Amino acid sequence: MPTVKQSKTLKVCILPDIHAPVHDQQAMSSVLAYMRSEAWDEVVQLGDFVDVHAISDHNTGKPGAIPHPLSYEYEVANNLLDKIVSAARFKNKACKMTFLKGNHEFRADRFVEKHPELKGLVEPHIALRYNARKIDYVESYPRGDVYSIGHLHMHHGYYCNEFHTKKHAEAYGVNIVTGHVHDFQTYSKVTWGSGKTRLATSLGCLCVLDAPYLHGRPSKWVHGFGVAYVKPGGNFNLYPVQIIDGHFVAPNGGNF
Ligand SMILES: [Fe+2]
Repeated sequence: MPTVKQSKTLKVCILPDIHAPVHDQQAMSSVLAYMRSEAWDEVVQLGDFVDVHAISDHNTGKPGAIPHPLSYEYEVANNLLDKIVSAARFKNKACKMTFLKGNHEFRADRFVEKHPELKGLVEPHIALRYNARKIDYVESYPRGDVYSIGHLHMHHGYYCNEFHTKKHAEAYGVNIVTGHVHDFQTYSKVTWGSGKTRLATSLGCLCVLDAPYLHGRPSKWVHGFGVAYVKPGGNFNLYPVQIIDGHFVAPNGGNF
């Protein structure tokens, strides 16, 4: 379990599923403006930064199911990542950046298992040069690697049933923040043995709310992200931020 050692209060921006190139332009633009306005110690992206739709197994046997080649997805993601890195480090050049692997990045792993000759060419963290950008990459999905800052634990998310935060609170047994399901949901659990409260929180997403694979079906997707302060002893508070029609009121009261 990768863990951050710290000697001061850390201010962390947590970005859930972005799904470039089908990220929501207005929601992302508002979040980037907010990120540029404050100094961050760390920015964590919870996985599904890129959609990786072009090589999805879901397209097999469906002519016309791939609207854009993978190169287009990475071109758009690369431009967006330039903006995210710039905003994250605008007021603090030393801002740490950590991206988790989501189930959409995992599509590339499955693809290179079938096409080993393309290993090193299609994985998002390689194509988007996370190393050169000083972005740490955590193999979060599906094996369950959890990224932790103090008592704040983050994972892409694994369960996607209706009460997925209950499953996450029980399965992980720690305060866990996830993306994956694209909804806003929270669940608390107090264990009799320890008397400790465990919170599981799903932060929504930053992708379009009418993704093509929904085929117009209604969903429970909402836009959101998180801001967390983590004290040196590990205590933290998480401020989930709901984005309505592309805009939000930040924890500092500012309008974005
Ligand atoms: Fe997602």
